[in-house]
Amino acid sequence: MTAAPALAGKKIALCVAGSIAAYKAVLLARRLLAEGAELEVTLTAAAREFIGPATFSGLTGRPVLGEMFAPDRGGEPHVALGKSSDLVLVVPATADALARFAHGRADDFTSALVLCAACPVLAAPAMHPSMWEHPATQRNLAELAADGRVRLVGPVAGAVASGDVGMGRMAEPNAIFDAVLRLLSERQTLRGTHVLVTAGPTTEDIDPVRYVGNRSSGKMGFAVAERAVALGARVTLIAGPVSLPTPPGVTRVDVRSTESLKSALWQVLGGDLAGADVLVMAAAVADYRPATPSQTKLRRIDAPLTLSLVPNPDVLAEIGRARTRPRPVLVGFALGTETDADAVATARQKLHAKRVDFVVANHADESIGRDDIRATLVGERDEEHVELGPKRVLADRILARVAAELAARRG
Ligand code: CTP
Repeated sequence: MTAAPALAGKKIALCVAGSIAAYKAVLLARRLLAEGAELEVTLTAAAREFIGPATFSGLTGRPVLGEMFAPDRGGEPHVALGKSSDLVLVVPATADALARFAHGRADDFTSALVLCAACPVLAAPAMHPSMWEHPATQRNLAELAADGRVRLVGPVAGAVASGDVGMGRMAEPNAIFDAVLRLLSERQTLRGTHVLVTAGPTTEDIDPVRYVGNRSSGKMGFAVAERAVALGARVTLIAGPVSLPTPPGVTRVDVRSTESLKSALWQVLGGDLAGADVLVMAAAVADYRPATPSQTKLRRIDAPLTLSLVPNPDVLAEIGRARTRPRPVLVGFALGTETDADAVATARQKLHAKRVDFVVANHADESIGRDDIRATLVGERDEEHVELGPKRVLADRILARVAAELAARRG
């Protein structure tokens, strides 16, 4: 397996403010993209005087953000971006930008995003030395340091655009990149672990062209795999037949039938289950298969056709029974069409029957094939509700719980 790029799966909001150093944000953007980061770029009105949005949208393949009240975008993009990013990066951060952050202003997109950010914020100051040394700027910096919500990289001493020399020159893009790596690695809660994920449906052949299957899209399992990479894990993804691209840094094994999923799982886990630290069984495994699949294509007959189905092994239950040590942490899914209370009760029964650590209970109408999901993480003694939102957000909650389980078993 090739090593994952350093920033695989990381979502970074790169906010460019108005300074001559804005051109260096382009070099940084290229480096972040080359290392696998997913970038959303925002430009302040002043930044647009120094550098055009086309430069960044050309690099990222996405439109540049920045309008608080863009008529073509619904919702509140600053709130959504603040929730979904792993890092908000402000490069360059002008004296004005830092003042806004220190005062909690929210009347432009970048300031509002920094105020909403649920992730770390890293800013690279750039300004003339007289502005850096000014008591107002120093006061703002002291407030930011006290709040602990915005970290700084640089500035450094050196020549600034005017030719003057002093403190205020922006840190070089490579130094900012290194600071990004350092900051994000502090949050790598799954570093050193091997996470095994199953995703998508399994399908069971009726004949060489037809099968019994279900409508699982694989999106949930793929989101778990992608986020586990972002949290520093080595990730193996066993995928049923789905049309989703492999997340960067993930080792993928494609399977079709339940039997092939089962043998792929045991091959990775090994008989003693020591091959993985975590197993997340997001796959919608077919519970039955045709008793006698036909070797040749079944021809139409003018009479009812009866398919005889036999049960498939319960793969997760077999693994649960085989586990004699605390690892791997086992996570099951339970998909139902009943009410929330019944779904939690069913999930808890499955938790005991399959001997897993927790079960993700979800409702078919609110999950299968969709980008969003609402779910309840059901443990032995507790329940954690996750409101309707992107599957990526649920993936993060699942993996936070997994990391806590691993830490508890270590200590
Ligand atoms: N699972 C499995 N092997 C099976 C069926 C399911 O490993 N043959 C796993 C799934 O990957 C999932 C969990 O077990 O993690 C789902 O359990 P299951 O009992 O199939 O629940 P549902 O399909 O949600 O519900 P039902 O009871 O209706 O089958």
